[in-house]
Amino acid sequence: MSRFLIQQQDPFIHKKEILELWAENLPDTPPGRLEWMMDGNPAGPAKWFFAFDSKTNQLAGMISVMPKLLILHGQIIRAGIMGDLVVDKRYRVFGPALSLVKSVIKSMADFGFDFIYTIPNSDSRKLMEHAGFEVLGELVHMLKPLDLNYYFRKYGPGLLSHLPSSCLQLVMKAISRETYVSPGKVYEADSINEEFDAFCQDIERYKQRITAHRNSVYLKWRFLDNPAGGFRVLVHKGKSNNDLSSYLVYAVEDRRIHLYDIFCKDEISVLSLINMLAHIGFRDNCIGIYIRLLEQNPLLPLLRRCRFIDTRDKASVFMYSNKTIDLSGWDFFSGDRNI
Ligand SMILES: CC(C)(COP(=O)(O)OP(=O)(O)OC[C@H]1O[C@@H](n2cnc3c(N)ncnc32)[C@H](O)[C@@H]1OP(=O)(O)O)[C@@H](O)C(=O)NCCC(=O)NCCS
Repeated sequence: MSRFLIQQQDPFIHKKEILELWAENLPDTPPGRLEWMMDGNPAGPAKWFFAFDSKTNQLAGMISVMPKLLILHGQIIRAGIMGDLVVDKRYRVFGPALSLVKSVIKSMADFGFDFIYTIPNSDSRKLMEHAGFEVLGELVHMLKPLDLNYYFRKYGPGLLSHLPSSCLQLVMKAISRETYVSPGKVYEADSINEEFDAFCQDIERYKQRITAHRNSVYLKWRFLDNPAGGFRVLVHKGKSNNDLSSYLVYAVEDRRIHLYDIFCKDEISVLSLINMLAHIGFRDNCIGIYIRLLEQNPLLPLLRRCRFIDTRDKASVFMYSNKTIDLSGWDFFSGDRNI
C-alpha cells in the first residue's frame, strides 16, 4: 500500500483544514477565497485533490486547479490554473507533493483542459520540473515611479536624491510617452455591464492571437467579486461614438498602484488610461505604478515607452500539455493568475 492516498473531493468537506493550511503556509490568502473559487467562475468551479496518510487517514496536503477560458485564433480553449499546493509540515520532503501535482496532470483530459499552468515559488519550482512542466515564459515585474525621491532615497545615486522632486518629476514626465496624448474620455466605471460584452468580443475576434476569454460575467467575478478586494476599473471611450475602446483594472495598496489587466482596441487609448492613472497616483500620493506581465505580452514595448522600468523581481510561468499548443504572444497579466 502506498503511503498516501490521493483523492479528488468536494473542498467544503475539508473547509476547516484548508483554512488552517492557508493560514499557516499561504497567509496572504483572503477569507472567502474558497467560496469565490467554487462559485461564479463562468468556466466552472475549481477542482481539488487531497492527500491522506494511508495509515491514519490524516489530511497531509492539497492542490487545486481553477478552470479558465482563453481564445486562441478565435476559438475557445480551456486551461487550468494550478495552485494552493500545500503539504502539512509533518509530511514534507518526498511526501505527497509530487503525487498531488501528478494527479492534476492525470485528470487533465477528464476536466477538458487543453493545458495547465502555474507560477511556482522557489519551494515548488523543482517539483514542477520533475512533474514534466516546462517554462512558458518569464513574468516580469515593472514599475513606473511616481515619487522619484522615494526610489532615489531607497536605491539611487545620492546626488540625485538631493534634487527637488518636482524637478525630477518634470524630466520623467517629458520623456514618458503617455504625456503626449489627450486624456480623452476616461473615467472610473462603477459597474461592469453588458457594454463590456460587445467590446471584449470584438477584440477577441480580431485583435489578439491568444488572450483570456473576457465578458462582463467573467470580469465581474474575477475582479469585483474577488475577496482580495479593492479592484477598480478605469475605462476609455471613443470621442465620436461613445463606445468602449479600452479598460484597465487596478488596485491601490500601501501607496502602490498595482495594474492587473489591460484590454484595448488601440494603443492610444491605453496611453490615455495610463496618463489618467498617473494623475490618480499623484493625487493620492502613491509612490509608483506596478505591473506584472509575461515578457511576450504585446503591450510590453508600449509600457517601456511610458517609462515603466524592470524591477529585479521575476517569476517563471510553467505549463503542461499533452497537445502541441502555441501560446506565444499571450497578453498575460496578473489578472490571468488564480489570485
Ligand atoms: C511547496 C511544498 C508543497 C513542497 O512540498 P515538499 O514536501 O517539500 O516537496 P518534496 O519533498 O516532494 O520535494 C522536495 C524536493 O525533492 C524533489 N523531488 C520530489 N520528488 C522527486 C523525485 N521523484 N525525484 C527527484 N526529486 C524529487 C523536489 O524537486 C524538491 O527538490 P528541492 O528540495 O531541491 O527543491 C511545501 O514546501 C509547502 O507546502 N510549502 C508551503 C506552501 C507553498 O509554498 N506552496 C507553493 C505555492 S506556489
